[in-house]
Amino acid sequence: MSRTIAVTGATGFIGAMLVDHLLASGWNVRALVRPRSAHRIAQKPGLETVTGSLQDNDSLNRLVQGVTAVVHCAGAVRGATAADFNAVNVDGLERLVRAALSLSPRPRFLLLSSLAARAPELSHYASSKRQGELALAAMAEDMEWVALRPPAVYGPGDTEMLPLFQWMARGIAPVLGEPHARLSLLYVEDLCAAALTWLNAGSCRCGVYELNDTQTGGYSWDETIARISALRASRIIRLPVPASLLKTIAFINVAVARLIGYAPMLTPGKVRELRHLDWVADNSALTAAIGWQPAFSLEQGLRRTMGWGEAGTGSNRVVVKPSK
Ligand SMILES: NC(=O)c1ccc[n+]([C@@H]2O[C@H](COP(=O)([O-])OP(=O)(O)OC[C@H]3O[C@@H](n4cnc5c(N)ncnc54)[C@H](OP(=O)(O)O)[C@@H]3O)[C@@H](O)[C@H]2O)c1
Repeated sequence: MSRTIAVTGATGFIGAMLVDHLLASGWNVRALVRPRSAHRIAQKPGLETVTGSLQDNDSLNRLVQGVTAVVHCAGAVRGATAADFNAVNVDGLERLVRAALSLSPRPRFLLLSSLAARAPELSHYASSKRQGELALAAMAEDMEWVALRPPAVYGPGDTEMLPLFQWMARGIAPVLGEPHARLSLLYVEDLCAAALTWLNAGSCRCGVYELNDTQTGGYSWDETIARISALRASRIIRLPVPASLLKTIAFINVAVARLIGYAPMLTPGKVRELRHLDWVADNSALTAAIGWQPAFSLEQGLRRTMGWGEAGTGSNRVVVKPSK
């Protein structure tokens, strides 16, 4: 059996960490890298790169040649329109699946989906992630596949959750969701461990699996704030951000993005995701299928991410990858 795994999204937050975990576990990695991002991937023993993109069939065929599995981490997480997300999260995925299906024997296929796919009505992003799952299930034939649905993932290099935690560490907690909303979190190394466990598991029932950290039932905003306050041994002031303000900023952001031509993160759809009441994930199906269990609590994950020592004693070093 080949020891090579094809990985997409290796220049992103999750994909970069996954590549390091795969290499450390003795797998060889062939990573798809867009030309404009080549400078963000360092040469490492066991790592080869294929220059291309999810829009380029030739590069996808080269990417998957002879691999034992494909781990698809690339995704569009910013954008204003359905087309912005679907071009990558649906059309790009379908091209990659077709490349994998052309091989004999067929590789196993892991799609990094999102818990957002559970509520596709909320945003173009959520809808594209659900459509991606459905496309994979419909196309896969006898290829073994899983789609993992992580909740909000944090860790070194994260540009979404980390700034929020950094604000809390400074003593101010912007509360962006409803006070009684609950959400699960996942430390990035636990997600990488889940992918590795699936790869090593040999076989697993095809399907969609949710993941969360050691906190069954997730967190409310107040619980998250209280835990970080205890971890830092310092007081944190809650700063509720009204939905109307978030919506106004999102509206302006999308208008400016259209004018200047960038892919916006805060959009009306993202606001609906942020205000959604139930983002609690459930590990039990994945644990039953492959035996993976999360190892990190929020405190442990934050200590590793932020370089914090024991409560109140550590440095406040924040490890962040070079900006994208
Ligand atoms: N972060 C989270 O909290 C979270 C939670 C649940 C699910 N997810 C899912 O996890 C995946 C990775 O997320 P992330 O946070 O690591 O995102 P990220 O940091 O933005 O990374 C996205 C990656 O996808 C690549 N990519 C985007 N469009 C591409 C294209 N057309 N062709 C080839 N590569 C392309 C990017 O390449 P460039 O470097 O060239 O831009 C980058 O490597 C996504 O599918 C996301 O939906 C993330």
